[in-house]
Order: sequence, then structure tokens, then C-alpha cells
Amino acid sequence: MNQTIQLIYFSPTGTTRKTVTAIAQGLGTGKVVHHDVTRVREGLELNLDEGIAVIGFPVYAGRVPELFLKRIERLQAAGVPVVIAAVYGNRAFEDALLEMTDVCRAKGFSVSAAGAFIGEHSYATNTHPVALGRPDRDDLDRAVEFGTLASRAVADPSRRAPQIPGNSPYKERPPLGGAAPDTDAGLCTICGACAEVCPTFVIEVGDAVRTDAAGCIKCCACTRVCPAGARTMNHPSVAERRQMLVDNCSRRKDPELFL
Ligand SMILES: Cc1cc2nc3c(=O)[nH]c(=O)nc-3n(C[C@H](O)[C@H](O)[C@H](O)COP(=O)(O)O)c2cc1C
Repeated sequence: MNQTIQLIYFSPTGTTRKTVTAIAQGLGTGKVVHHDVTRVREGLELNLDEGIAVIGFPVYAGRVPELFLKRIERLQAAGVPVVIAAVYGNRAFEDALLEMTDVCRAKGFSVSAAGAFIGEHSYATNTHPVALGRPDRDDLDRAVEFGTLASRAVADPSRRAPQIPGNSPYKERPPLGGAAPDTDAGLCTICGACAEVCPTFVIEVGDAVRTDAAGCIKCCACTRVCPAGARTMNHPSVAERRQMLVDNCSRRKDPELFL
């Protein structure tokens, strides 16, 4: 396929970005345009009437992150084919793919294919590993292969729309806010890397690092980027969740494709 590929994604810890980039590779030889809305203050304003789109996002509590939906509020399409990729942390993707399928149809896209892929869980640590290092080589090979299968689906207008799993009404979203990573002042060098990756711009760096927990989405991008290991997510609600994940979600899951 030699059409422009519009990659539209939200990816605080980078696993979604890796996955959609591999999908684009499989889709073909067209020009690839990245619309990374992880850290934009203004949402994406785009009206597509040609080419093909790939929309990727991490699963948060079995749903599409609300912030991503907000950032693509003004995205519209006139019958353009879209490939949807949900990336989840080896627990479950629940209603996220169905939700995004409904959103894309309402925006005027024609949904050609969808896939659920696995990425290292945002809450994973070396002592509490959950899908550590994923997407790995096998995941990325599968994502490239999915892109190739999706390009065939796009090229065949007689194909029926894919059946996407999920429940409607969707799972209820848990309330956000109140929990945020801590900074160990003894280790912190005030380099500001944490503030530079925060998707909600709630980290302030002065003579110390301050986080407005009310606006934190718990994505853990800041804990991953800190070169001094000073940022950690220790809130009891997350620590409990992390242990639950280690206990129940350690068995490897594989990507699921819907074409
Ligand atoms: C607030 C929050 C909620 C999450 N909910 C789920 C979930 O319901 N199921 C799951 O398997 N993983 C869940 N995850 C893990 C992410 O979906 C996973 O780590 C993903 O790869 C992160 O994508 P990114 O690297 O593009 O940020 C959650 C992560 C966060 C931060």
C-alpha cells in the first residue's frame, strides 16, 4: 500500500508508540505522519479525506483513556479506513477496543481492523514484573504482520466489518486523581526530566519537585524517565494493584487480532 499513513496515538511510557510504528511498517510503503498527542496542550485538529489512519492507545481500567478521547475530540474523517490498536499490560483490554471502534465510526472512519497488543504494565517494576520488556521482538513481528493483514483488508471492499469484542455500556471508569508518584529529595537532582514527559503538565520543578496529585493520571512516565531513580509510584492503592497484577497476570498473553 502506497498511501499516507496517519499514526495517531497517546503513549506516556512508549509501548503504544512502538506498537503502532510496527503496524505502520506492515501496512506498506506510504509516507508515515506521526500525531503523538501524549503531551500536547491543544488537541489534534485534523480532517482526513484520504490515506489510512492508525489509532493507538494504552488501555486504562478496561477503557480508552479519557485524556486521549479529549485530545482527538476534533479529529474527523470522511470514510477513511482506520486500524485500531489497544495496548494493555497483560491483564485485560475489556471494552477498550469496542469503545474506540464506536468513537471512530462516529467520527466518520471505516474500521478495517483492530488489535489488542501487550505492553509492559505502567506499574511494573523490576521487583514486581508484569509484562516486563514488552512489546518484545515477537510482539513487534506480530504487529508488523497485523499491519500487512490490515492493508489487505483495506484493499478489499467486499470484506465484512470486523467483529470487535467488548460490552456496551462500557465498564465504568474508576475516579482519577489523588495518587501520584513521590520524589525522593535525597536522590533528585532537579533535572526536570519528569516534568518534560508528564502528559498532564502537573509537575513543577523549582527548588524541589512538586506534583499536583489531583491532575495525575498515574501513567508513570515520570518514574520511567528519572535518571536518578528518585521518582517512584508508592501510593498504597497502586502498590496493592501492582501486587494483584504480579499474583494474577504474570502468565504471558499474546496479541489478539480482529480482521
Ligand atoms: C491508570 C492505568 C490503568 C491501566 N489499566 C489497565 C487495564 O485495565 N488492563 C491492563 O492490562 N493494563 C492496564 N494498564 C497498563 C497499560 O495499559 C500498559 O502498561 C500500556 O502498555 C501502557 O502504554 P504506554 O506505554 O503507551 O503508556 C493501565 C495503566 C495505567 C497507568
